[in-house]
Amino acid sequence: MAPVEKLRAAEAALKEVKDGQILGIGTGSTVAVFIGLLGKKVKEEGWEIACVPTSYQSAYLAVENGLRLTTSDEHPVMDLAVDGTDEVDPGLNLIKGGGAALTKEKVVDSSAKRFVVIAESKKLVENLGKFPLPIEILPFARAKVILDLEEIGGEPKLRDGGDRKDGPLVTDNGNFIVDAAFGEIRDPKKLELEIKMIPGVVEVGLFVGIAHCAYLGDSTGVRILRKG
Ligand code: A5P
Repeated sequence: MAPVEKLRAAEAALKEVKDGQILGIGTGSTVAVFIGLLGKKVKEEGWEIACVPTSYQSAYLAVENGLRLTTSDEHPVMDLAVDGTDEVDPGLNLIKGGGAALTKEKVVDSSAKRFVVIAESKKLVENLGKFPLPIEILPFARAKVILDLEEIGGEPKLRDGGDRKDGPLVTDNGNFIVDAAFGEIRDPKKLELEIKMIPGVVEVGLFVGIAHCAYLGDSTGVRILRKG
């Protein structure tokens, strides 16, 4: 049974979906709840929906729930993207990448005409930065990227594969993740650009000015943040 906070957020996003749409599907436990609800709805209504997944996890879950997959080659512009987040600020800027899927997520979320975030309300923060910033990097560039991140004030740490994998975590794209603490991030756009300029950086988990709306579930209902 999904936690009620995630369920409420996912239900709110489901109301935005219409028959015939091309959907970008993010990654993570909240998106997993959304995929379950979407699969049910599509089956009940006989909808024609196709999904561009951002990870193996979401692709497999979508198929298990009877959803049709498509690609960003066929649909470089999607109608709607639905994705989770690790942090969201009141201006709808995000830190993402806790599940190491940030690169495809950023491509898909920024390719959609509308991008809605679904999360538990505890992900809302005044300023981004409590969650160390995930950065996908080329394995070849590891040592130098770490030096460069330190140079600009970060505390980078190569993400470990955990109990089931010795050594660094390897992403769906065959790269590594560095988690870099920068303290409170006062100017997310500036930091995003600074990090993206480092050779060997594939993508940064700062999503600035991309999201249109966030549905933040809590025990009593859903808080909605809108752009503008
Ligand atoms: C995946 O890399 C992340 O960006 C997720 O979208 C984010 O970690 C949110 O995941 P949960 O919904 O599991 O909290």
